[in-house]
Amino acid sequence: MEQKKMLSKHDAAIKNRSEPSGTHNPLLHRKLYIESYGCQMNFSDSEIVASIMAQQGFVFTNQYDEADLILINTCAIRDKAEQTIRNRLLVFNQQKLKQPDLIVGILGCMAERLKTQLLEEEKVVDLVAGPDAYRDLPRLISQVDQGYKAVNTFLSKEETYADIAPIRLHSSGVTAFISIMRGCNNMCSFCIVPFTRGRERSRDPYSIVQEAKKLFEAGYKEVTLLGQNVDSYSWHPSMAATASLDSASNQTIHFPQLLAMVAEIDPKLRVRFSTSHPKDMTDEVLYTMKAYDNICKHIHLPVQSGNSRILKRMNRTYDREWYIERIHAIRNILGPSCAISSDMIAGFCSETEEEHADTLSLMDYVQYDFSFMFYYSERPGTLAARKYPDDVPEDVKKRRLSEIIAKQRAHALMHHQKSINQVYQVLIEKCSKKSDDFFQGRTSQNKIVVFPKGAYKIGDYVDVQITSCNAATLFGTVLS
Ligand code: SAH
Ligand code: SF4
Ligand code: F3S
Repeated sequence: MEQKKMLSKHDAAIKNRSEPSGTHNPLLHRKLYIESYGCQMNFSDSEIVASIMAQQGFVFTNQYDEADLILINTCAIRDKAEQTIRNRLLVFNQQKLKQPDLIVGILGCMAERLKTQLLEEEKVVDLVAGPDAYRDLPRLISQVDQGYKAVNTFLSKEETYADIAPIRLHSSGVTAFISIMRGCNNMCSFCIVPFTRGRERSRDPYSIVQEAKKLFEAGYKEVTLLGQNVDSYSWHPSMAATASLDSASNQTIHFPQLLAMVAEIDPKLRVRFSTSHPKDMTDEVLYTMKAYDNICKHIHLPVQSGNSRILKRMNRTYDREWYIERIHAIRNILGPSCAISSDMIAGFCSETEEEHADTLSLMDYVQYDFSFMFYYSERPGTLAARKYPDDVPEDVKKRRLSEIIAKQRAHALMHHQKSINQVYQVLIEKCSKKSDDFFQGRTSQNKIVVFPKGAYKIGDYVDVQITSCNAATLFGTVLS
């Protein structure tokens, strides 16, 4: 009964689709609002989704209350990330009460994790699409137009969206993300990503270089190559989807070669990458970074814990000594000016005070420039959830996390204080949030610098002398 009613509600709209061209077609001008959560990969995926939807005639709006379709690209990495989405759905539910033909779709990792369960739990949701199902969005939407709920959470072994030119949604026209691979084959015991993003696959390097070239020609000055574990990037010409590729070489392309190919596009194009995995990061990557000034001198090398027993339980497949050896390799090959950042998890299953102290002592040893720090959140279905009790009490997890955060702040401030009077090349990215009279940009080491605008413009490279700092930001003046 309900379904019949929904079908007839949309009949008029579907009929309009076959109107002769020249007449008003509401389906062609439907408005799409996209909201993204989680890692850079998700933000990058939203740009692929935007491209697919633009081809369907959707136009973009940044106000959800004027949208015909709301897509939320979700994260499932910690429980809190999913709670944020659930709260957001309450808001969209209010909107749907006012606007009954509004379509609400859930994309991304939470969609993949919960699948049809999401439709049962969240009545406002009409559509669920996992990270490998975005090409199917037009069909899923037409299914919703016909009054049905629509789901596709199929995970692919091949999909890289290599041929889809992203529409840049989150960019000021200076920096952009490029996905170079998808999925993850590591099975860190705490992590949901292998379940939500599937098997690892590398994207055709020629399509990556093409995308970076086009960005540079359009005025972009920085690209960040994205993957869960960029060091395991590997592509062989036999993996090409089309015959139009340069098959002169029969060599497998690994990450250092890809990095060099992108760096060679132009010395004025900065290249960043994330994330490096300590078990896979090779000296060859470090030498490639050294060989090109435009490859930014910053490595994100998440350690997660400073204790070898915990690392083993986390299934990170390296220990404290191995990690420290990789830090030495960075220092030896790239010198002290290469920034190093990390991710840390406090209170993983069975972690003792002494083991937590090992994380703090490792931080003292490495002196990270910055870190992303979390307390452990059990994720259903992961190896840790199945094997290890989540037995560190929440107040202990939070206290350990606050100790990690305090230490990181002290290290960041110490690095920043050392930068005072130094001169850095800064790429201007945007106006400062605090004042219209100031610009904000980043150094090669990924440090945020704020300085008076002068006669410069967004996208310029300027030499800035640092005059003051806090733990998050450097302040300076441009040397003319
Ligand atoms: N591929 C990256 C990490 C991606 S997830 C890597 O291997 O480093 C980003 C970060 O979220 C992780 O590095 C980890 O610190 C954190 N994280 C992942 N699962 C978590 C969980 N269950 N609880 C708390 N933090 C988690
Ligand atoms: Fe998760 Fe580990 Fe893969 Fe990173 S490397 S995405 S932490 S499984
Ligand atoms: Fe979150 Fe998925 Fe990224 S779980 S961190 S959006 S890969």
